[in-house]
Amino acid sequence: MSEALAYVDRPAQSVRARAPAKINLHLGVGDARADGYHDLTTVYQAISLYDEVTVSPRPGAGVAVSVTGNDVESVPADDDNLAVRAVKLLAEHAGVAPQVRVRLHKRIPVAGGLAGGSADAAGALLATARLWSLPLRREELLRLAAELGSDVPFCLAGGNAIGTGRGEEVAPAPAAGRCYWVLAVADGQLSTPEVYAEVDRLRADGVGAYSDDVAGLLQALRSADPRQLADRLQNDMTAAAVSLRPQLQDVLDAGVADGALATLVSGSGPTVLFAARDSHHATALAGRLRLRRLAREVHCAYGPVQGTHLL
Ligand code: C5P
Repeated sequence: MSEALAYVDRPAQSVRARAPAKINLHLGVGDARADGYHDLTTVYQAISLYDEVTVSPRPGAGVAVSVTGNDVESVPADDDNLAVRAVKLLAEHAGVAPQVRVRLHKRIPVAGGLAGGSADAAGALLATARLWSLPLRREELLRLAAELGSDVPFCLAGGNAIGTGRGEEVAPAPAAGRCYWVLAVADGQLSTPEVYAEVDRLRADGVGAYSDDVAGLLQALRSADPRQLADRLQNDMTAAAVSLRPQLQDVLDAGVADGALATLVSGSGPTVLFAARDSHHATALAGRLRLRRLAREVHCAYGPVQGTHLL
C-alpha cells in the first residue's frame, strides 16, 4: 500500500465532549450597567441533561457545523452558532488555522433558559483544545469562555457555583446532596435580552428588586435538605418572563397543584423547574405534568453534575 493511501485509510481523528445544561437556584438581577449587561448574583447548578460536541479535522476547508437531536431547526448552522465561534476564538488565541468539523448532538432545549448554546460553546472549546493538543491552563480556558458568553465559564466548571459580575466569574458553592428536578419546557422560546429589558421596564415601574443575598441558599445547599432548598429558590426574572409569556403562570401553578416542593422559572425561561423530594417524586410529578399537556417537553434531571468533560 502506498503511503498516501495508508493516510487516507486511517480513520479521521475526532474528539467528543459532553456538556451539561445549567439552572440557576438563585438569579439575582441588578441594574443595567454601562456596557448593557446586568450585574448578577447567581447560584448555578449543572444538571444531568447534556449536549454532545464532536470535533474532527477538516483540512483546508474552514469550520462547519451540523446538528442532530432536539430542536434541530432552531439551532443556527452558521457563524452565529456559539460552538463555531468557540472554535474560531480558540484558533485565533492559539494561532492555529480553524479547520474543524463540529457535530452537535442536542438534548438541551434551545432558547429554554438552560444555557444550551453556552454548553455547546464549552464543549467545543474543550474538545478542540484537545484535538489540537493545546496545553491550555484552566484559567485561560475560562477567560476564553467568558468572551463567548456569560454562562460559558460555568458550563465548563459545572457542579454548584456562585456567579458574579455578569455571571462569568464563578466560584465553587457547597454541594452536600443531590437535587431532583422536573423540567417543563413551555411552548415557544424567550429571548434572553428581551427578558432582561422587561426586568428593566418593570423595575422602572417599581416592580421587583435586586435579591443579592444568597447566604440562606448556601446554608440550604450545605444541609442537603430538599425542603430547605425549595424555600430558598429565587429568580428575579420571574415577573418579566411571565409578563412576556403569561402562560408560564399556568405551568408554575400546575407544579404547586401537583405537589412540587417549589416551582421556579429557569434562567430567562420559558423552562419551568419543579423541585422534587427524590427521583420517585420527580417521576410522579413528570407523569402528572405530561397529562396536563401544558409543556412541549418534560424531563427529569438531577444536579449537581460535573462540568464539561471529554468522553
Ligand atoms: O453573555 P451572553 O451573550 O449570554 O448574554 C446575552 C444577552 O443577555 C446580552 O447581550 C445581554 O442583553 C443579556 N445579559 C445581561 N446581563 C447579563 C447577562 C446577559 O443583560 N449578566
